[in-house]
Order: sequence, then C-alpha cells, then structure tokens
Amino acid sequence: MQQQLVDNYQRRFQYLRLSLTELCNFRCQYCLPDGYKANKAHQFLTLNEISHIADAFSELGVKKIRLTGGEPTLRRDFTEIIALLARYPNINEIAVTTNGSRLESRILEWKNAGLTALNVSVDSFSPLQFAKITGEDKLHQVINGIDKALEVGMKKVKINTVLMKSLNDDLNHYLPWITDRNIDLRFIELMETGEGSAYFNRYHVSGSKIEQQLIEQGWQLMIKDQLAGPAKVYQHDDYQGRIGLIMPYSKNFCQSCNRLRISSTGKLHYCLFGDSAISLRDLLQQADQKEQLKTRVLDSLQIKPETHFLHQHNAGIIQNLSFIGG
Ligand code: GTP
Ligand code: 5AD
Ligand code: SF4
Repeated sequence: MQQQLVDNYQRRFQYLRLSLTELCNFRCQYCLPDGYKANKAHQFLTLNEISHIADAFSELGVKKIRLTGGEPTLRRDFTEIIALLARYPNINEIAVTTNGSRLESRILEWKNAGLTALNVSVDSFSPLQFAKITGEDKLHQVINGIDKALEVGMKKVKINTVLMKSLNDDLNHYLPWITDRNIDLRFIELMETGEGSAYFNRYHVSGSKIEQQLIEQGWQLMIKDQLAGPAKVYQHDDYQGRIGLIMPYSKNFCQSCNRLRISSTGKLHYCLFGDSAISLRDLLQQADQKEQLKTRVLDSLQIKPETHFLHQHNAGIIQNLSFIGG
C-alpha cells in the first residue's frame, strides 16, 4: 500500500508549498519594508533537487504543489520548473502565489507549461495606496496580468489582500472588482512575524467584521474541496466572483491544516510558524536516495505541532514570510 502523510492528529497532507527563492522585487510594508537583502550563503534549490522532491512527495500522496517565494517568478527557470512538475501524473494541481509583476507577459507561457492555479497579491485597488503598501507603483500592471490570466482561460484565479486597519479594510472598495470577474478575493489577517511585531501591533485587524458584513448582505458560505487552503469562502448571486477570509487567529484554524512546506534552501517546515525545520538537502542529490528521503519525511512528520502559537506572539523561526512564502 502507498505510504501516506498523516500526522498524530489524523491530518492528511496532500498539498506541498515549495518556495523557490527568497528574492523579491517588491517591498511590502508587512514583509520586506527595506527590500530583499541578498544572502550569498543561500543557494536555492536546483531543478534537479526539485525533481527529487516532486518524485518522493508524489509517491507519498501529494497531489498539489504551490510554488511560492519570495517572488517565485523571478527564477529564470520558472517555466521549466512548472513543466517538470507537470510530468508527474499524480500531481494534478500546480499553483503559484505571485505579486503579479511578471504576469501579463508570461502567463500564457506558464499555462502552456502546465500551471493550473494562480494566486496574486493585491492589497489595494487604489494605485497610490498600492504603491505605499508594496513600494512599487505597479497596480495597473498587476491588474492587466490578472485580466490576461482570465483571458487565456486560467480557471482558478485568486487575489490575496492582507487586511490592515484603516488602510485597506473597507469591503466596498473591493466589491466592484469581483462583480464581473470569476475570481476569489481573499482577505488575509495580518500575521505577526519576528521582524513585523511593531507593524502587526499597529495594523492587525480581525476579518470577523468583514465576515459579519458579508452575512448581513446575503453572502453564503461555500463548502470547501479537499485540497483547498484555509480560506472560508462566501458567494452571492449578484457577483461572479467570491470573497474569502483567511483568519489564522480564529478558533480551530489549524484543525484543517492539509499542507507541508519546503523552503527555498530545502528545509521541511511542518508548520508555517514552527520553531524548527528539517533539512532534506543531503537527500535531494541523487534519484536513488528517494526511499531514504521518504523515510525521513514520514518519521519527522510526527513532530508536527497541533497548532501555531501566534496567540502567544510566538512566530517560531519565521522572521518574515519572504523566505517561506506564507
Ligand atoms: P490555496 O487554497 O491553494 O489557494 O492556498 P492558500 O490560500 O493557502 O495560498 P496562498 O499562498 O495564496 O496563501 C494565502 C495566505 O494564507 C498567505 O498569507 C499565507 O501566509 C496564508 N496561509 C496559507 N497557508 C497557511 C497556513 O497553513 N497557516 C497560516 N497561518 N497561514 C497560511
Ligand atoms: N501576514 C499575512 N499575510 C502575509 N503575506 C506576507 N506576509 C504576510 C503577513 N505578515 C502574504 C502576501 C501574499 C502571501 C504569500 O502572503 O501578501 O499574498
Ligand atoms: Fe515580496 Fe510577497 Fe513579501 Fe510582498 S509579501 S515583499 S511580494 S515576498
């Protein structure tokens, strides 16, 4: 029988988030306010190492791989990575989370290589506010990219908006963008990271106010599919798009955790906010190390914690989300 990734709390992991780089060309206030500072010591996973990860994890039952960063599309071999993953018959979803800066010119190429789902960060639809939050005056470029993705027939397109108190937390600002676009727009509660405490204390706001407004306006909660992320998604007959909420501070958020993460330097993180990670790199060099690799992953899965400790202001080893991709 195929070995499966199941932890001590009976959670099953068929979804892997793979970070390809720490590099980013944006300077989001809550993540890399001073921009990415290169660390020469960090060598990011090679195509060969990525193929060994895909090989082992697909045999362990992983069906979906999300490529994250930093900004994953900055990798020169990004299209090749998609094409490589698309060769594994068990991996039926290949997704990316991107800031959208390269979307317009490249989405067709990525789709043709096998990309099946796309999440794009848009923290405001006001060009000025967008530039203030991300450090880049590129809202139009990003929106053109999203529209191009819809035009070329991408079926699963989502927008991520990190909620910040008084900066971008007015639901009415967003609704016109999803009236005629078949996309999920998800509000993400700001999460505290090692470097982001002061920002968090100033701007964190719960998603529950927006959820309440949605319910009052007749939006209805949808049922999740098995490989879906942690968002609660609402729909309404008057809108083609949907609104989602990712509320990591809400009760039982971690109960439905279905994902593992590998950092761009080949470390397995059991929890986004865990206090340790296990290096897999020594076992990613040769195809014949696959069984050893699978054993290490299965054995160490038993230390996956039941929940994060964000409520105690403990973000584990995470300094900002650019090195693990959220
Ligand atoms: P899909 O359902 O595949 O679209 O996944 P997703 O919504 O999790 O993907 P995405 O990369 O767009 O992440 C959206 C936000 O959710 C980011 O801010 C992530 O940091 C956050 N997030 C994703 N997974 C987790 C998780 O396991 N724990 C916590 N606390 N946050 C998460
Ligand atoms: N809290 C919540 N979301 C964050 N992201 C980055 N840093 C944080 C944070 N501190 C989001 C990005 C992107 C996704 C990968 O993670 O906006 O949508
Ligand atoms: Fe870059 Fe994403 Fe961090 Fe923004 S949140 S700085 S786009 S890695």
